[in-house]
Amino acid sequence: MNVLVIGQGGREHALCWKLRQSPLLKRLYCAPGNPGTKPLAEPVDIEATDLQGLVRFAVDQKIDLTVVGPEAPLCAGIVDVFAQHKKLCFGPNKAAAEIEGSKAFARELCRRHRIPGPGFWIYEDVAQARSFLDNRPDGPIVVKASGLAAGKGVTVCKNNAEAQVAVAECLERRRFGDAGNQVVFEEFLEGQEVSLITLTDGRTIVPFDPARDHKAVGDGDKGPNTGGMGVITPVGVLPRIATQIESQIVFPTVHAMNRENRRYQGFLYTGLMLTPQGPRVLEYNCRLGDPETQPLLMRLQSDLLPLLLAAAEGKLEEQQAPVWDKRVAVCVVACSEGYPGDYKKGVPIFGIDRVQQGPDLQVFHAGTSQRLGGDLLTAGGRVLAVTALGVDAAAARAKAYAALQQIEFAGMHYRRDIGLRA
Ligand code: AMP
Ligand code: GLY
Repeated sequence: MNVLVIGQGGREHALCWKLRQSPLLKRLYCAPGNPGTKPLAEPVDIEATDLQGLVRFAVDQKIDLTVVGPEAPLCAGIVDVFAQHKKLCFGPNKAAAEIEGSKAFARELCRRHRIPGPGFWIYEDVAQARSFLDNRPDGPIVVKASGLAAGKGVTVCKNNAEAQVAVAECLERRRFGDAGNQVVFEEFLEGQEVSLITLTDGRTIVPFDPARDHKAVGDGDKGPNTGGMGVITPVGVLPRIATQIESQIVFPTVHAMNRENRRYQGFLYTGLMLTPQGPRVLEYNCRLGDPETQPLLMRLQSDLLPLLLAAAEGKLEEQQAPVWDKRVAVCVVACSEGYPGDYKKGVPIFGIDRVQQGPDLQVFHAGTSQRLGGDLLTAGGRVLAVTALGVDAAAARAKAYAALQQIEFAGMHYRRDIGLRA
């Protein structure tokens, strides 16, 4: 089969790395890809958001399956565009991808179908939003831009004063552009967080092993939120809770989408808070998580390609359940100085060649570029995702952090506590 992967981050590097191992694969392309995907997949110089360019390429190159990494093309309707050209594209269509594209839609979906989540209030008008805050008892609250904001649109506020600042950033200073046309206030929930990624064709669901992301930039979950600083998988979830997550959240969500004529095919990512009252939906994503994908795919022993193909064709029922490596995987993300705020690009990266990579240790490229001469440079906020397998969390952590010590670039920072609580 000829396969096209769309995107250019660590998630897409891991997808290419895993798909490359499939005996069903003939040619593999990545648009636009990055220096890490280059040895695995032929680079295609088309941006992930150029839907017409991508479908033309897929038709010309006889691509059998296109696998979309990021949310932007999915929310823009890439699956619909490919379908118009009779090309198979794995992922939710535009109507289904709205589950991530609009947090307001996702919250109202949960309310309509009694899927457990925090209490919420939605506002477009800044005066009304301010007055909502003025009229509630002071205390913690979460403020979210409703649209796509690369994981940075959420502010967990300790009190109403902080929430007023977040509202001003979103509705007045327009920090997130049109993605901030609406704010969603959410009741602040406490508990352990878990990410659950499920593969579905709209009928059958195949849950992947649970993972734990570390969203805040600093150790001990301090500082602003990022796209994700590191992940450990699996995380122990009691069987009773796992059953609740499936029966009260994942199945009802897929059914709810069907009932609203938004059949969901692709990866459904549910960010969950395990509260004393039971699991609650924090967010939905219409795709694989980044960096959750990197450690998950290193633990996936089954061939990924037939699973994706079956989901895209609506035949997931015929597939065997995926087999997971019993070991623990830890992924630590090395970031540019300043991230998640402003950061410089083009800083030389040294030492990746000193790392002994193999099936148990991979340095996935998240935001890198390569000069003509060959020098590797930083090209994003999240630069590298170092991912290791070990018999337990301590062993996986030790391997990932030892590899990180071989690597350097000016201003590099990463969390030291990924997977530490496990
Ligand atoms: P999201 O992108 O919506 O998952 O939000 C990013 C992070 O903010 C989550 O991983 C949580 O740590 C935190 N968060 C989001 N919503 C809530 C909530 N309602 N209560 C408490 N924390 C939240
Ligand atoms: N790591 C969280 C996300 O991909 O949204």
